[in-house]
Amino acid sequence: MIVCSCNVLSDQDVRSAVEAGRTRSTSRVYGCLGCSAQCGRCARTIQRIMDEVLGSARAAPAIAARGPRNPD
Ligand code: FES
Repeated sequence: MIVCSCNVLSDQDVRSAVEAGRTRSTSRVYGCLGCSAQCGRCARTIQRIMDEVLGSARAAPAIAARGPRNPD
């Protein structure tokens, strides 16, 4: 899905940049993807995607540390 119509960036573009560790800053996402912020309407959406990616990255070790929910 296109999340930035000015730069034609998709949610997957943003996820890939964050997952690759290229950025953890909303303002730097554009530069990492070879463009720059234009109107800024996409900033909240990009922030939400980054929060999802970084949140799931933080949750994964915690889930692994807890172990299986229903051990036999
Ligand atoms: S929609 Fe992303 S800068 Fe305009």
